[in-house]
Amino acid sequence: MRSKLAIQFGWLLLLLGRAHPERSGFDGPWTKDPSKFDNSYFLELLEGETEGPLKPPTDKALWRILSSATILSCMQRAVEAMCPGVVSCADILALAARDAVVISGGPTWDVPKGRKDGRVSKAIETRQLPAPTFNISQLQQSFSLKGLSMDDLVTLSGGHSLGFAHCSSFQNRIHNFNAINDIDPSMAPAFAASLRSKCPMHNTVKNAGSPMVPSPTTFDNTYFKQVLLGKSLFSSDEALMTTSGTKGLVSQFASSKEAFNEAFVKSMIKMSSLPGGEEVRLDCRKVN
Ligand code: HEM
Ligand SMILES: *[C@@H]1O[C@H](CO)[C@@H](O)[C@H](O)[C@H]1NC(C)=O
Repeated sequence: MRSKLAIQFGWLLLLLGRAHPERSGFDGPWTKDPSKFDNSYFLELLEGETEGPLKPPTDKALWRILSSATILSCMQRAVEAMCPGVVSCADILALAARDAVVISGGPTWDVPKGRKDGRVSKAIETRQLPAPTFNISQLQQSFSLKGLSMDDLVTLSGGHSLGFAHCSSFQNRIHNFNAINDIDPSMAPAFAASLRSKCPMHNTVKNAGSPMVPSPTTFDNTYFKQVLLGKSLFSSDEALMTTSGTKGLVSQFASSKEAFNEAFVKSMIKMSSLPGGEEVRLDCRKVN
C-alpha cells in the first residue's frame, strides 16, 4: 500500500507541473518522456541530468527508499527551483491530495491556492489531531475548532476510502475494549475476528494492520457502506453511527457516490481556505 501510494505521488510530479503552469512558471514536461511512467524523474534528481537513455522502471529499490516525505521534498525543491518563495507547502500538499484522489478515480476540484505555511513546526503538535479513539463529541469539538461542521466530519471521514491503518490505530476495539466486552460490540463479528488474526494482542509483525476498505486504492463511497455494516476500522469511524444526523448522512453517502463526491469537494475546498499561515516555507519540514 505504501509503495502504491508512493507511485501515485510520483504521478503528481507530472500533474503538478502541467496542470498549474500559471503558478509554477513552468509549462514543459518534467521528464524526457512525460507520457511514460517510470522512475526517471527521481534518477535525474538523484544523479543530476543524465545524458542518453534513462533506465527502464526496474529499480524497485528506489521506490522503497523514497518515502512520501522524500517525495514531497523532491516536489518542493522542483517547484522552489523554478519559482522561489511563491508556492507554499500547504498548497503543494493540497494539490497532491487532490491529484491522489483524482488518480484513484475520485472527483476533481480547483484547489484555492495562496494559503501560507505555519510559523511553528513541532512534532508534538500532531497531538492536536483527532485520535482514532475519539467519540462523536470529541470529534465534533476538534472539527469545530477549525470551523468545520458535523457534515464536514462525516464527509471528510470518507477520506478513509483510501489507504492503510496500522494495528495500533484500532487495537482499542479488538482487545480489552471495555470492562464488559473484549471486542467492540458495534463491530461485525467476522470482521473483528479477521482484524484480530492480523493484529493479535501482542503483535510482533512489523507494520501489521489492515487496508482501510477492501478497495483501498479506489476513491469511492465504499467506506460509508462499510461503516453501515459495522466494518469500519476506527472508533472515530463507528462514532458517525452514534447520532441520528451523522448516521443519516452516512446512509445518504452509502447510497449515492455522486452525493458523496459533491460534498467531499466542498469540504476539501473549505479546508484549503482555513486561515492562519504566515510564510512560504523554503523547506517543508521546518519554519524559515
Ligand atoms: C475524522 C478524524 C480523523 C481521524 C480520527 C483519522 C485517523 C486516522 C488514522 C488513525 C489513520 C491510520 C494511521 C496508521 O495507522 O498508519 C488514518 C489514515 C488515513 N486517513 Fe484519517 N483520520 C481522520 C480524518 C481524515 C481526513 C479528513 C482525511 C482526508 C480527507 C483522512 C484520510 C486518511 C487517509 C488517506 C489515510 C491512509 C494513510 C495511509 O495509507 O498511510 N483522514 N486516519
Ligand atoms: C466522549 O468522551 C469524553 C471524554 O472521555 C466524555 O467526557 C464524553 O462524555 C464522551 N461523549 C460521548 C457522547 O460518549
